[in-house]
Formats: sequence, structure tokens, C-alpha cells
Amino acid sequence: PTPLFDPRPALMGIRYIHFTIQGRQSDTNQVGSKPEPFTMDSPVLRNFNCSLPELRHLFPGCSSHEELYNLSINQTDLFWGTLARLRLRWNRDFQQVSDCNMETGSFRWFLGGQLNVSVNCVDRHKEKDPSRVALIWEKDEPGQEERVTYGELYTLMNQVSNVLKSQGVQKGDRVAIYMPPCPLAVASMLACARIGAVHSVVFAGFSAEALASRINDAEAKIVITADQGVRGGKLIELKKTVVTAVEKCPTVQTILVAKRTGNPVVSSPLDIDLDEAMVKESGECEPAVLDSEDLLFMLYTSGSTGNPKGIVHSQAGYLLYASLTHSLVFDCKEGDIFGCVADIGWITGHSYVVYGPLANGVTTLLFESTPTYPNPGRYWETVQRLKINQLYAAPTAIRLLLKYGDEHVEKYDLSSLRTLGSVGEPINVEAWHWYNKVVGKEKCVVVDTWWQTETGGICISPTPSAPGSEIRPGMPMRPMYGIWPAILGEKGEELKGNDVTGALCLKKPWPGMARTIYGTHSRFLETYYRPFNGFYFTGDGAVRHSDGYYQITGRMDDVINVTGHRLGTAEVENALGQHPSVAESAVVGYPCSDKGEGIYAYVTLKDGFVADAKTEAELRGIVRQKIAAYAIPDVIQICSSLPKTRSGKIMRRILRKVAADETDNLGDISTLADPAVVEDLVARHRTLK
Ligand code: PRX
Repeated sequence: PTPLFDPRPALMGIRYIHFTIQGRQSDTNQVGSKPEPFTMDSPVLRNFNCSLPELRHLFPGCSSHEELYNLSINQTDLFWGTLARLRLRWNRDFQQVSDCNMETGSFRWFLGGQLNVSVNCVDRHKEKDPSRVALIWEKDEPGQEERVTYGELYTLMNQVSNVLKSQGVQKGDRVAIYMPPCPLAVASMLACARIGAVHSVVFAGFSAEALASRINDAEAKIVITADQGVRGGKLIELKKTVVTAVEKCPTVQTILVAKRTGNPVVSSPLDIDLDEAMVKESGECEPAVLDSEDLLFMLYTSGSTGNPKGIVHSQAGYLLYASLTHSLVFDCKEGDIFGCVADIGWITGHSYVVYGPLANGVTTLLFESTPTYPNPGRYWETVQRLKINQLYAAPTAIRLLLKYGDEHVEKYDLSSLRTLGSVGEPINVEAWHWYNKVVGKEKCVVVDTWWQTETGGICISPTPSAPGSEIRPGMPMRPMYGIWPAILGEKGEELKGNDVTGALCLKKPWPGMARTIYGTHSRFLETYYRPFNGFYFTGDGAVRHSDGYYQITGRMDDVINVTGHRLGTAEVENALGQHPSVAESAVVGYPCSDKGEGIYAYVTLKDGFVADAKTEAELRGIVRQKIAAYAIPDVIQICSSLPKTRSGKIMRRILRKVAADETDNLGDISTLADPAVVEDLVARHRTLK
């Protein structure tokens, strides 16, 4: 098919600089060949891993990456419909590929289709080879890894499914999972998928209060946890946190507790020992037959206002998008060992530790430790020992390891690595080069991947692209198939052409996109589809460079990115506001070389309270108690008042400048009710340095 029009005028001018990467496939070997006729039982279905030549085999009218991209945009239903039939196992074929409306925020994919995600992630690989390794659990102590085959994962998943059923969990019920990365956490997620329950994984670093508010918002019936976590040589009291949280959660009927350390921990009348309960259950559980648009999971993420939102993903579209991006962006094939070191409590863990790799039948890593435990060589020693082929990590960890020096990397044989990925925040050029040279020995493909909890999978990344295409340091560059980025200006106008900066929006629906915010579709619409009518607004700013490549400039709203974790400044303000001494607070991010962004809190105290070390310690403590350790402000500046306009609005622009040390360039302060406040702010800021 000929593209109807080029959706990327900006990319027309791209020069693909061809060079040969040793051992990589040429993309010319399938030109002109015809695809085999497709049937649901075709062997190609079972073996398909969707590299560029294979995509061209499927869409034979396309002879280049650009033509494929154009097809994915102009003939969306043809593109996604073909891939959905080929990559997923269906109980019933779908009748319509998509029914999407950017005005109402209604998105449905693969209508009429029925399938089960757990069957796609486990059963079909177990049928082929039950002894293939599905999971490598890289425990906190190096050298203690445990392998779980697809056959074993099948049994574990079914046993957990049967335990959930015996506890009365039914299709559509919500199950909270508060566990670090471990095989039972994966089995629990898949068990929910198997019986049609909706999981809500809560990062196991969140406090009891944060956990309780997420459980209550989802009205979860069950919480699955472990006795303790082990990370960086320290014990984490998971069960204790759950017991405290559940006191405030009337909907929870059962706490399933897996054994990690076996140490005695606080108990509750709702407890059931998960390991014991599993032994009593069968290792077979009939998978529920689910509609494409039934809910698969929800995952809470921060926005600029209010409480964290439960982003909802559904079955077929999410799985297709996670699995396709996983194989194409990382060049991940059967037999590979994929090492994503993210926690399963974040979207990266959902899409690229669990669903993407398992749907593709590869071996996936569950990393329980930290980048520096027991020493800063931990990632590299793990890569050598497990022969990891693709590593996917956060820039904050890369920057940290860079500082420790090259000797920690050079000790190890990293020749198994082919792709190095980064995600979560912009990767600075220095860190990118270090990753490329010192870790990748300039032989790996380095991919800075941009995406979000809401997008389900990677949306902008240097790959897929024509083999040998150039890769620029520090930017995600190219849109994924089916992703059509747009840059919008201040007045909501689309900025066409290159060399433009503005709000990053996506112009076309894609299968992996979020469907709603749990319980509040109006907030979903307001947040993502109202700011720019007809577009999905990402919340990020971006530049489209002169050559058409995209670079992310950072959040445009009051969300900050701390060590790759997304945090709403309003959440921290709400927590601070609960301390009896606090009259008012305003929290902003500031550039921080280690963490990406640091957290700077300006606080005014009520009369009668003094700014002393004890108050500051209590303020830090309350943030830890209400949210999590990563949300604790780096700087607390107690001040006499905050800069406000005459109408009483806090001028955050000034607070950001002061926090960033840009005090010579504060801009127009004439609209402030009391411009003298600024002098005081700057003077106090200087004393903190
Ligand atoms: O600001 C962007 C930043 O992380 C945000 C999404 O956060 P979250 O939903 O927690 O998902 C993180 C993992 C996918 C984005 O709005 N972000 C993510 N990746 C990048 C990035 N910023 C710059 N470059 C990236 N590669």
C-alpha cells in the first residue's frame, strides 16, 4: 500500500546514515517475498518475533522503515489488526480493530475479540518447551539467583489463581499486590489475569498511608504481600506496613502472605500463608475467557493535582503494544535473557519485566537489589554471571555508577550485551556516552526510550529504525510505529515543521494507551484530552530538532521526576500540611546532578512555632510517613511568607528560580502583592547553601 500522505513532514529530511553493526541482520533479505497465508494456527504465529524484516514480510508493499511507519499511521487498523492476529492467541477473533474517539476519551481496540493474557504469557510457551527459563530471580545477595521455567511458572500461577478463587475473588475484583520483584509477585499478577481480576501493584517502598489510600481507591478485596523484603542488605517490613494500612481499609477481607525471609512478623486475623495455601491447590486453573477491553490492571501515578490516579489498562491492546515494543525496541528474540532492573511496582516493571518479555517467550530478570549492593559493580557482575543480552536501566543509576569510576565495569565480561536502554527521565549526554563506551564498548545499540504509565509502552525511541540508522546521544529521537507525535504551542496551535519547541502531544490512538482513570473518567478527560482538543497531552515538553528528531525537555506541569520516580508537588505539600506547625508550603523541583530533580520545599510556620532542626526532621518524617522515602525534600526552607500575586496565587516560577540558584534572573516580579518577599527568600536560600 502506498502511504496516503506523509504524516511526518518533519522527518522527511532525515538522512539515514548507514553503517554496519557487526552481526546484525540486514533488512533487505525479505524484499519482494510474499507472506505465508495466515491462519490462527499457522506456525508463524508461534515463532513470530517481529523484527524489521519480518514486518516487511507481513506488509510487502513497504520496502523501508519509513514506509512501514507511514503505513502504521495511515492504515492503523490494517497495521494493528494484522499484528494482533499474528502475535496473540485468541479464543475468539475480533470483528473490528478500533473504535476510538479523542473527544470523549473512549478507546476500544480489537472489539469482539476474546483472549486470556496469562495464556499468552505462559501457556503457549510452556506448551512449546516447559523447561525454557521464564524468570531469573536475582536476589539481593549476588550469586543466589533462582530460575523458574515456563512449566514451573504455569504451576505457580495456577496455584495462586486457585487460592484467589477460593478466597472468593471473581472477575473484575481488584487485588492489591505489595511485593518486591520475585517469582510469586509475577505469578500473582498473572493469576489475576488468569481469572479476570484486576491487579493494582503498589510499589513496595510506599508508606502504609500511601498503600491504604490506593487500596481504598481501588476497593481491593485482597492484598498479596511478603513477610519482609530484602534490599541492599537491609530488611524491609512489608507485612507490618500492610497490617497498618489495612486497619484503614474496610474492603480488604484477606491478606495473602508469601515467605521471603521466614522471620516472625506482625500478624493480623486476615492473614493466610500464601505458600501453604498454594500447596493445597491444583496446578491447573481454567483460564477465564475475557473480552479485549476487560480491565487488566490499574497502576497509580502522580499528577499535578490531587491524589495519585489509578491509570487503567485493558487486555489485548496493552499486551500487543508491550510485546511489540519489547521485541522491536530492544531487538529481543527467543533465547535472549532480558534484564530490566526496574521494580515491578512501576509501569516499566509491568511492561518490560513481566508482560512484554513473557508474551515474547524470553527469559526475564527480576532484580531485587540495588545498583551499588554489595558494590558499584553489581549490575555488571550480574550481566556477566547471567549473560544478559539487553539491559534496561534508569539514567539516575547510570549517573551514579559513572561517578564510581570505570574500574567497576571493566572487571567484567559484558560481551553478551547487545542493547542498552534507559528510561524514566532525560539521559544527559555525558551519561549516554559512558553507557555507550564504557558499558557497551561502542558495540551495543543504546536506546533512550520515552514513554509513560499512561502510554503502556515505549512511544519514542531510536529503534525500531532502518538498520544502521544514526543514533544521537541523549534523545529518544524517533516515534514508534503507530505513534504520531505533535508539538503544540502556547495557544494550542500545532507547530508544524522542524526546530520547534512546545507541548508534546500524540495525535493518534494506539493500542497500549490508558483507557481511563479508575473511577473518574472526567479527570481522565480533563488531564489528557482537554488541554489540547483532539490530542493526547503527555504533560511533557519537547523539541523537534532540525532533523526531525524528538528530545524531551521535561514536565510542563507540577510533576517532578526524582530518581526516575514521578511525584506530584501537591502530594508533598499535602503531607507537609499535616504537620501541626505548617501554615503553608510550596514544593518545586530543582536540577540535581544525581537525582535528575531534587525536591525543594518552602514552608511557612504558624505563629508560636520555631524553625529549628527538630521541626525540620519532623517535616521530613511526615513526608516519609504519608508517601515514601523518595519523596522526602532535599531542602526545606522555612520562610516568613511565600511570593503571591494580588489575587493570592503562589508564583511558583520565582520559587523554581530561587531553588535553581538563578536568583539574578527572576523575571517580572511587579505583579507580586509584596515584592519584598523575594529578597527575604533569596537571602534565606543563600544561608542554606
Ligand atoms: O517526564 C517524562 C519522564 O517520565 C514521565 C513518565 O513517568 P512514569 O509514568 O512514571 O513512567 C516512567 C517510565 C516509563 C514522562 O512524562 N520520562 C520517561 N522517559 C523519559 C522521560 N523523560 C525524558 N526522557 C525519557 N526517556
